Amino acid sequence: MAMSLCTTSVGLIFTILLSLTPFVPRAEAAPRAFFVFGDSLVDSGNNNYLATTARADAPPYGIDHPSHRATGRFSNGYNIPDLISQRIGSEPTLPYLSPELNGQKLIVGANFASAGIGILNDTGIQFVNIIRAPMQLDYFEQYQQRVSALIGAQKTRQLVNNALVLVTLGGNDFVNNYYLVPLSARSRQFSLQDYVPFIISEYRKLLLRLYNLGARRVLVTGTGPLGCVPAELAQHSRNGECAPELQRAASLFNPQLDDMLIGLNKELGSHVFVGVNTRKMHNDFMSNPGAYGFVTSKIACCGQGPYNGIGLCTPLSNVCPNRDAYAFWDAFHPSEKASRLIVDQIMKGTTEYMKPMNLSTILALDSNQL
Ligand SMILES: *[C@@H]1O[C@H](CO)[C@@H](O)[C@H](O)[C@H]1NC(C)=O
Ligand SMILES: *[C@@H]1O[C@H](CO)[C@@H](O)[C@H](O)[C@H]1NC(C)=O
Repeated sequence: MAMSLCTTSVGLIFTILLSLTPFVPRAEAAPRAFFVFGDSLVDSGNNNYLATTARADAPPYGIDHPSHRATGRFSNGYNIPDLISQRIGSEPTLPYLSPELNGQKLIVGANFASAGIGILNDTGIQFVNIIRAPMQLDYFEQYQQRVSALIGAQKTRQLVNNALVLVTLGGNDFVNNYYLVPLSARSRQFSLQDYVPFIISEYRKLLLRLYNLGARRVLVTGTGPLGCVPAELAQHSRNGECAPELQRAASLFNPQLDDMLIGLNKELGSHVFVGVNTRKMHNDFMSNPGAYGFVTSKIACCGQGPYNGIGLCTPLSNVCPNRDAYAFWDAFHPSEKASRLIVDQIMKGTTEYMKPMNLSTILALDSNQL
């Protein structure tokens, strides 16, 4: 009796173990890889390895980062990619040019973004040595070859197909191209009305190439309220009103981007591209800063001149004591606190913010497919 009880319970435990076994490795499987492409809003330090002035490599950048060092992120602490990595349970992706990006670190993903770049190759030309969008995609190809050498071509394909991708482009095609100087080459070539469809059609080509390189879940951010950043207020605003031309640019760009993404998805027969309405996300806390714990959404925390919006954030700039009270960290970039609000909406926003669905829905859908 005792014997058979014992056998039964061993058998039972064995059965439980057996039935659990298939789940255990999955629950403990590495989080999905994450790839980032774009400009300074999402650069985590690539430009530190390049001869360019578009760098965030001196204090007080990084003042609230766990390292308390300037990491190359254009933030007082974490940036949007870091906060997304946290939400998907990954460590932060390393900049592609980092010498630490080797071996197992490659499996986490990589950040190819480079401050100053745009959709067009001639955007950010004054920064000379930056990783322009086509080059970011070349590096993505090179990355896949490196990972293939590590885990084989088929597993690499899977890793890339299952990955989450973030693309942030477009703001610089206005600020650091069309409107960079009066009578810029592009503004002589195109009216704003014609420039926007032109850059959207170039953007489409880049996104299709990303798809052809294996990306299947791609968050694509629109531009924020370009005319309302402290740099523009400092140059164009008497009473704190946003610069109308750049606001007009953003209001032309964002809906056309949405349409382009919807068209691409239709053509591909799948919800590959997800439109992130960063303009609406920004507008929420800019129109009612107090509701989000901000004392101002007009004055940058770090900078100088009106709205702290003149020039760059440097060791000689004014720095606010409480960075969480400012929507803008420097003249162009959100504070970590503002980035957290944006990532909250990326996670759980309604279709007004995330088209066709938010990241929590994507994560739930994709985990069911595994
Ligand atoms: C941008 O430059 C790359 C080479 O660096 C080139 O292959 C590509 O065609 C250029 N794109 C446009 C739109 O001119
Ligand atoms: C977004 O995410 C939340 C869960 O956090 C979900 O309840 C909601 O329905 C989602 N909205 C859309 C539009 O996908």
